This record gives sequence, structure tokens and C-alpha cells, in this order.
Amino acid sequence: MSLRSVGVLGTGKYVPERVLTNAELEKMVDTNDEWIVSRTGIKERRIAAEHEDTSDLAFRAAEVALAAAGITAEQLDLIVVATVTPDMAFPATACIVQERLGAKNAAAFDLSAACSGFIYGLANASNFIATGMYNYALVIGAECLSRITDYTDRNTCILFGDGAGATVLGPVEAERGFKSFVLGADGTGGELLKVEKGGSSCPTSELAAEAKPNSIYMNGREVFKFAVRIMGSAAEEALLKAGKTKEDIDLLIPHQANTRIIHAALERLNLPEHKCVINLPYYANTSAASIPIALAEAVEQERISQGDTLVLVGFGGGLTWGASVLVW
Ligand code: UT7
Repeated sequence: MSLRSVGVLGTGKYVPERVLTNAELEKMVDTNDEWIVSRTGIKERRIAAEHEDTSDLAFRAAEVALAAAGITAEQLDLIVVATVTPDMAFPATACIVQERLGAKNAAAFDLSAACSGFIYGLANASNFIATGMYNYALVIGAECLSRITDYTDRNTCILFGDGAGATVLGPVEAERGFKSFVLGADGTGGELLKVEKGGSSCPTSELAAEAKPNSIYMNGREVFKFAVRIMGSAAEEALLKAGKTKEDIDLLIPHQANTRIIHAALERLNLPEHKCVINLPYYANTSAASIPIALAEAVEQERISQGDTLVLVGFGGGLTWGASVLVW
């Protein structure tokens, strides 16, 4: 069977209005702006309003992506939402977005691969289009991490933010589109980064008795070491599979977790900083939303031209990782 080339037809992002600064966090936990900026690169993050859920952020980003692609909601065959903060256990956040968009012809499901979720989502959706089963897919990364962040834990609360990014995928000319995907998982590292409670092993009905809510736990040091190793190797593997080299990269779009992790990847790939999107200072780590938000901003800022070779790469809880080479 011959496969079609699949590319990005439109991008969009939405971040909540409320800005939470490092100065505000200084009043909440024992931390300071100097530590946060020097250890992570983060200056501020966005926090969803009380009335905003993950589906609201996803919907707003999707509207922008659809308009940019010139595709109507009814033309969509598939909606994938990558998230670890769905509105509820079910129905899927993707179904809520489908209803709000009026995308009545689209199949819809959520995908859970933590910060790697958006790349997993792209790989999934693009395969449906490559085989000819579907024509147009909406892939969204959306998170309300503030809802699962413990704002008494300085190890984690400085790191996370809320937001959503969306892309519309469709068939493109043979020389353009996704040229490779690398997806990986190592469940032995699951303990390093997790939200343990609220699932079937510790249902919410038992949480009332718990001193701490169902929030993110992270062994930052170990995740850091894994991240530095995997960002470079996943990107290199994706390049190899695509028949390209480091020198071909026009723009790197990495998961935004820590500027030190991003700089380590740049060093390994021999790339100058201007060939990389870094918006971490303003949004912090938005998990599955960070890569699509960065991609949407690169498009907004006209940093990408047709024919450019992009490398998207991320890592996260699971542990998981993913990378892709995309010719624009
Ligand atoms: O999307 C994937 C999710 N996560 C990540 O990518 C995170 C990966 N890890 C990291 O980015 C880094 O490990 C952190 C930013 C989380 C931490 O940086 P670090 O350089 O690894 O610091 P550390 O954990 O080794 O802690 C150094 C010190 C400790 O104090 P002691 O034990 O040396 O006295 C911490 O208690 O810094 C302390 N510390 C803080 N100090 C001020 C930890 N958090 C804070 C804080 N403010 N917010």
C-alpha cells in the first residue's frame, strides 16, 4: 500500500490570561526568583481561571488552528487530545471539544503519554491520514496542570503552567510533511514522575481522608538526567530514520521543561540557540501542550518557511519520549 505524505495545515494556541510570577511564588513557598530563573529558566506561568477547564483551553486553540488551516469543523475525521489533566475520567476531553466545535463527523479520543503526548498524538493521527482512512485530523495538547500541582511543594509548584496548542493535519505534497517518528517508553521509570491518586488503585472516594491531594510527585534530579540523555538521542534517531543529519535542522521545537535540558540538547545537536524555540520563561512546563504552543508561536513569529526541516522532541512521565522530523 502506498502511503500519503502528511503535514501540518494550521496551528493555534491558547494560554489563560492569569500570569503567576516568581515573585508571587516567593510568597507561597520558600523559593526565590534567582533560584527559579537560574535552575529552570522560568519567569512566569499562566494559570487557568476557575471557570476554565482543559477542554476550554483546547477548544480555543483548536478554533485558531482550524481557521489557519482553512478547514471547517465538519471536515474533521479525527480529534486527538493529548493530556494528563482531562476534564473528567470520561467522557474524553476530545469528545467535549468535538461537541463544542460541532465536528460531528470526527472520531475523538484522549491520549495519555504525559509531556510526550503531543508527539504520540501526531504519530497516531498522521498514520490514519497516511493510509487514506482519514483526511483531516485535529491534534491538541492541552493541560490544566495547576489543578494537580501542590502549591506547598517548592520542588514542583514553580515548574508547571496551563495552556493548549493545536494542529490540523492533512495530506501534503510528497516532499513535505512528517518524515519520521520515534516513540519510546520505559515503565521502569514510572515512579520518578507521577500522580498516584485518583485512579483505580486509589479512587477519589478514598482521597478525602488523605492529607495531600492527588498532585504531581517528581524526582527532579533523576528526571533531569533522563531528559538530558533522551532529548539528544531521540532527536538523532528521528533524523537518522528521516535520512537527514543535524546540519539539516532549521528549527528545533523541544518540550519546554528546563532551559538547562534544552541547552544540553542544543549542544549535542550542534545547534545555535536561534535555531530553537524557547518560550519556557513565559509559560513554564505545560506538559503535552508545550510543543504545540511552541510550534504555534514559531508560526506566528514567521520563524518557519516552506521547506524548512523541523525537529520536534519531548520526554515525560511514564517514562515516555517522542521525536519527529517534519518538513514544513
Ligand atoms: O516535563 C517533564 C517534567 N520534569 C522535568 O523536566 C524536570 C526535570 N528536573 C529539573 O528540571 C530539575 O531537577 C529541577 C529544576 C526540578 C531541580 O533542579 P536541580 O538543579 O536538579 O535541583 P535539586 O533538585 O538538586 O535541588 C537543589 C537544591 C535542594 O536543596 P539542598 O538539598 O541542596 O539543600 C533543593 O531542596 O535546591 C533546593 N530547591 C529549591 N530551592 C529554592 C528545590 N526546589 C527549590 C525551589 N527554590 N523552588
